[in-house]
Amino acid sequence: MTKIAVWCRHKDDNIIGIGPQIPWRISSDFKRFRRITKGQTLIAGQTTYESFPNRTLPERKIMVLTFDAGYEVSDKQNHQVVTDINYFKEAEGDFYIAGGASIYKAFFAGGNALMPEIIVDSMYCGDLNPELSGPKIDISPCIEAMKQKYRQISADYELDNVVTTVHVRKGAFVDQSVLKHIIKSIEAED
Ligand SMILES: NC(=O)c1ccc[n+]([C@@H]2O[C@H](COP(=O)([O-])OP(=O)(O)OC[C@H]3O[C@@H](n4cnc5c(N)ncnc54)[C@H](OP(=O)(O)O)[C@@H]3O)[C@@H](O)[C@H]2O)c1
Repeated sequence: MTKIAVWCRHKDDNIIGIGPQIPWRISSDFKRFRRITKGQTLIAGQTTYESFPNRTLPERKIMVLTFDAGYEVSDKQNHQVVTDINYFKEAEGDFYIAGGASIYKAFFAGGNALMPEIIVDSMYCGDLNPELSGPKIDISPCIEAMKQKYRQISADYELDNVVTTVHVRKGAFVDQSVLKHIIKSIEAED
């Protein structure tokens, strides 16, 4: 099993959302996320899941983390509710952790059995959308962990004011075929 965290954060303050929304709109960043996760299984917190158009993302399976065991997903064939994050300590397969902040933080705080082996760190270097109001949501503890416990294994890929890098956890076994897929997906900018 490989767990991969994929995010786009704002440079310096590590903000990933304001209220329920992502405070920038970069089409190439969405496309990169789609290439990396197409055909894969995502993990999303209930708030992030609700923010997907029609509560779905085509061509992907979604594991929805919620404490509500009765939560109804939009697509029973491809989406599944998980109420205990510890499920991912021993589950079979590769999992792309797609946020939001509480989910990234829970995986990073969960010890080696939950901490992702790979991070795809995209960093947006432009301005935040000034029209959004609401709490600013950041993932600073995850970025601190990334700096201390991971090493960068890719080049810096820069596109449309977003710098993307790939990091692997020091000492972790990393499936090379997963890494190859990620790097190929990043490099295939269209
Ligand atoms: N920039 C990016 O890359 C990116 C990516 C994704 C999301 N975002 C942004 O992140 C923000 C949302 O983050 P968020 O932290 O508010 O919400 P979230 O992490 O998406 O979802 C929170 C919900 O997940 C469930 N949950 C949390 N921890 C859990 C656990 N350990 N076990 C089971 N269920 C758990 C709870 O659902 P219940 O209340 O139903 O129990 C909780 O209310 C939004 O602004 C969104 O746009 C940004």
